Amino acid sequence: QFHKHAKEVSFKSDGPLGKFDRQQLQRGFQVYKEVCAACHSLRLVAFRNLEDLGYNEDEVKAIAANWAIEAPSIDPATGEASTRPALPADKFPKPFANEVAAAAANNNAIPPDLSLITKAREGGAPYVYSLLTGYQDPPADLPEANRPGPGLHYNPYFANLNLAMAPPITAADQVSYSDGTKASVDQMAKDVSAFLIWSAEPKLEARHQAGWAVIAFLLIATILAFMSFKTIWADVK
Ligand code: HEM
Repeated sequence: QFHKHAKEVSFKSDGPLGKFDRQQLQRGFQVYKEVCAACHSLRLVAFRNLEDLGYNEDEVKAIAANWAIEAPSIDPATGEASTRPALPADKFPKPFANEVAAAAANNNAIPPDLSLITKAREGGAPYVYSLLTGYQDPPADLPEANRPGPGLHYNPYFANLNLAMAPPITAADQVSYSDGTKASVDQMAKDVSAFLIWSAEPKLEARHQAGWAVIAFLLIATILAFMSFKTIWADVK
């Protein structure tokens, strides 16, 4: 039994002319924040990077302030590690204290960091989208060895066919979008996948634009070289 290839799904950032749809990135961030962040870290992204998505400085400060960062000092009153509100320069904090705690809370599987997941997994963002929308009952003819064990969930897009993540997006309007977009399961899955394209490659647009400048330069250089060639050899019959 082999797992399925990712579904066909397109994103505004696809292709050499692709640009991010910032409204979509903001919606995707909302899904990450309200759903995925309970289990998955985003350790390479700092709150101030969210300015890229169109939030202004004050909005970023307000978003950051809702997250707690573990402070280096021990709270003298309780003896517990103390926390402080996050600042724009902080990276997104991890949801679990360590891998043991992460595994203990998730049926022994550790939720991977999502910063680079669209680059790390074959299939990229369409894979993430397919995974989120691909949970189903195991087919009747599935061999016993491939059936989900206790605490596992059948998903034909996952390489092992069964994964420890329960379907995270299960119902329409699980988040309420502030831009009025209807939050269908499909829409939320697409939006968070788009957001994870951005987290893995925030400079994607600059790369696309540089590519066009390089092509234009090479074209002009080729024409000039050809004209020089013609001029240099003009007298040679
Ligand atoms: C694995 C995405 C929410 C727990 C994964 C993987 C992705 C992902 C892409 C990696 C699959 C692979 O290895 O190829 C997301 C997204 C979420 C979300 C986009 C929000 C929409 C959650 C939540 C939990 C969770 C809320 C915990 C309740 C896990 C665990 C794994 C995992 C335990 C490891 C599964 C395994 O290796 O069997 N998730 N996730 N995820 N996720 Fe999530």
